[in-house]
Amino acid sequence: MYLQRRNRISRSSTAIRSMLAETVLTPSDFILPIFIDEGKDIIHEIPSMPGYYRRSLDKTIDEVKEVWNMGIKSVLLFIKCDDQLKDNTGKESWNPDGLMQRAVKAIKDAVPGMVVMTDVALDPYSIYGHDGIVDPEKGTILNDATVEALTRMSLSHAAAGADFIAPSDMMDGRIGAFRHALETEGYSNVGIMSYTAKYASCFYGPFRDALDSAPGFGDKKTYQMNYANRLEALTELYNDEAEGADIVMVKPAMAYLDIIREIKNNTTLPVSAYHVSGEYAMIKAAAEKGWIDEPKAIIESLTSIKRAGADLIATYFAKDAVALL
Ligand code: PBG
Repeated sequence: MYLQRRNRISRSSTAIRSMLAETVLTPSDFILPIFIDEGKDIIHEIPSMPGYYRRSLDKTIDEVKEVWNMGIKSVLLFIKCDDQLKDNTGKESWNPDGLMQRAVKAIKDAVPGMVVMTDVALDPYSIYGHDGIVDPEKGTILNDATVEALTRMSLSHAAAGADFIAPSDMMDGRIGAFRHALETEGYSNVGIMSYTAKYASCFYGPFRDALDSAPGFGDKKTYQMNYANRLEALTELYNDEAEGADIVMVKPAMAYLDIIREIKNNTTLPVSAYHVSGEYAMIKAAAEKGWIDEPKAIIESLTSIKRAGADLIATYFAKDAVALL
């Protein structure tokens, strides 16, 4: 048999395959999400995220030191707010002595090089578990009032020393409002990693267990995107670019690889993707049953996300991946 091309030549040994790999993961690709709780000496495993923990600040610092030494360059902070501090204004979210603000300071003090990103949204602080301020009569989420609250929250994260704020709320106009406020208040070095295309997804379930932040009524479909839509992600992208975002994110990741590629092909900004809690839980659960090989599933998943166009990946598997590389 005579063949002009033999594609299998380039797959014929481990060395050749690795030389010709188009996509290679490195530790600096990863952003590690961190769940923080009040208290001391607490390491609480999240039931729907086996092998993943919510920690008090002292234990968080140990963890951040460890992951920095592994080569992970960035952490994305989430806090669990005390029930008594929740309301419908979100005012605890800009308390200069709040848990998030203390966490940012403590991490920057302990590991100054670590790139600290902070989640900006009201859900952990909301008695309704929504990302914005609720009109209690109509049951709607108030866009502009929420943007005002989130702007105060962003400024307080910047004051605490955050490198990037990461708004995950999906209100309209928030990136422009934050950029303007950061500029006018003297925080022109603080970046914005926007959750540009964040879909209303069932894959956030375990995260809401981790932070006790599930919506008390309704769902998030009036602000998070409809997963049936692709072009709408470009509308969000063009808004975020014009308003001054530094990094644009797609979330979730595995079921949205087409969106990651769509965004990548239409922007010169760095693109990130969030491999979310439900995606973590699915791999963990199947591995626990012995139905898939966990290390292989981790590396294949993360490589696919990078191949799709993600320059950065927020993932609960960051430590596992670095250990496996
Ligand atoms: C809330 C927020 C969510 C996640 C990150 N920020 C949940 C939600 O929108 O309900 C999900 C992360 C994950 O599932 O890993 N603003």
